[in-house]
Amino acid sequence: HTFRYRPELLDGVAEHLTGELKEYEDWFMVDAAKLKAITDHFVKELEKGLSVEGGCIPMNITWVMKYPTGHEKGRILTVDMGGTNLRVCDVCLSAGKRDFEQIQRKYKLPDSVKTDTKEVLWEFIADRLASFLSDHHNGEEPSKPLPMSFTFSFPVDQRSVRSGILQRWTKNFNVPGVEGNDVVPQLEAALKRKNVPVKVVALLNDTVGTLVASHYRDPQVKLGSIFSTGCNAAYMENCRNIPKLRDAGLPEDATVIINTEYGAFDNERKVLPLTPFDHQIDKQSSRPGTQIYEKMVAGLYIGEMLRLMILTLHGKGVLFRGQDVTRLRVENSLEASFLSIAEMDISEGLQDMREEFEEKFGLQTTLDELKTCRYLIGLIATRAARLYACGIAAICKKTEMRQCHVGVDGAVFNKYSMFKGRVAQGLREIFDWQPGEMDLIALNAAEDGSGVGAALVASLCIDDEELGPC
Ligand code: GLC
Repeated sequence: HTFRYRPELLDGVAEHLTGELKEYEDWFMVDAAKLKAITDHFVKELEKGLSVEGGCIPMNITWVMKYPTGHEKGRILTVDMGGTNLRVCDVCLSAGKRDFEQIQRKYKLPDSVKTDTKEVLWEFIADRLASFLSDHHNGEEPSKPLPMSFTFSFPVDQRSVRSGILQRWTKNFNVPGVEGNDVVPQLEAALKRKNVPVKVVALLNDTVGTLVASHYRDPQVKLGSIFSTGCNAAYMENCRNIPKLRDAGLPEDATVIINTEYGAFDNERKVLPLTPFDHQIDKQSSRPGTQIYEKMVAGLYIGEMLRLMILTLHGKGVLFRGQDVTRLRVENSLEASFLSIAEMDISEGLQDMREEFEEKFGLQTTLDELKTCRYLIGLIATRAARLYACGIAAICKKTEMRQCHVGVDGAVFNKYSMFKGRVAQGLREIFDWQPGEMDLIALNAAEDGSGVGAALVASLCIDDEELGPC
């Protein structure tokens, strides 16, 4: 059956508006058959990524080879460089309690830092760490450098858990001189320049921290995923299923967490139903031709998608006729949170949405225009959720997992209240779960991959003495 996005939302809207939407609806509806075809291709691409030749999806080896047992103990600093914030924590793990204590601080990562020189980027982190230490460690000079676990949420090629060569920037970061280099010595050099007594003992992806932290709390969690500025997932794989590890001399029963980096799925554009808006978003991004799947679903791009649609309809004289749309012409001026505010607005006059348009863009809106925009938002967000379901389903199919929990972190998933239900609906259609049959793959909000998760990864991979005492 063909999936339709709540056409009743357009009840009463004038025809010159709804007429234009038919084409958009056709573009953005991804029916069950298409979801299944995408998932099947996705499974093949995950496998290709594990092969010696490789494919679009990097399937990066993380060298995290087991899950925590609950006996981990020790103290460590963690730093998370996400797409939007920098988070610093001081985490204490206590053995046997599956428990921890932490102090944390968040700093906004200014947009300029994402495209400045590498010195600016790494010193920004060093400065924040220095201020964290002076606030929370009483400025005492430690006798040896403090261990730190660094969550770096970009694709890196790792030879060990302590190092990682950046394969390419994603999420519109564009700092020259980092791609192709190990990020750990670059950060450590900045720490040294700034006299910050810290050394990096582990480098991990946010999905890996999420998987480990979620599994620590709920052993049924078999996938860790982020749905935020970017979109990605990690899972534990048997090394015997990883041809590219064939010569690594690992024991027959070894396992390792794979950071899939599946945002790069279908960079070859074989199955994803790309629209003119997707092509435009890719073209204007800092790395065209990469992360094609991520650009259709993730938080960094769904606001931009709406902005482009509105401007197109404005150009056709359909929306905001005769109004000054200068502010809306600014790239990335419409954020994902706008979409969630608009969709959650259940007031009759769509008052919240109206105010957002007025405050952010100086636009006066009619009710018909608001309803039209909300419908467009529904199309964008529903497609994002359904395509996101394909990635999760593909990992489950690839690993022959019929039932599991998935730990998902990230603002889009956890703050956009309609999102989770739409993903679940996508999964039901992909797996043909019958009505009344429970959801075998359950998505749960994950917490704190970059604090506790990063601390656990360090304690799994390095000697106990390297961690500090609590
Ligand atoms: C991008 C990054 C990936 C990260 C994800 C979520 O896809 O390449 O490493 O996990 O965003 O933050």
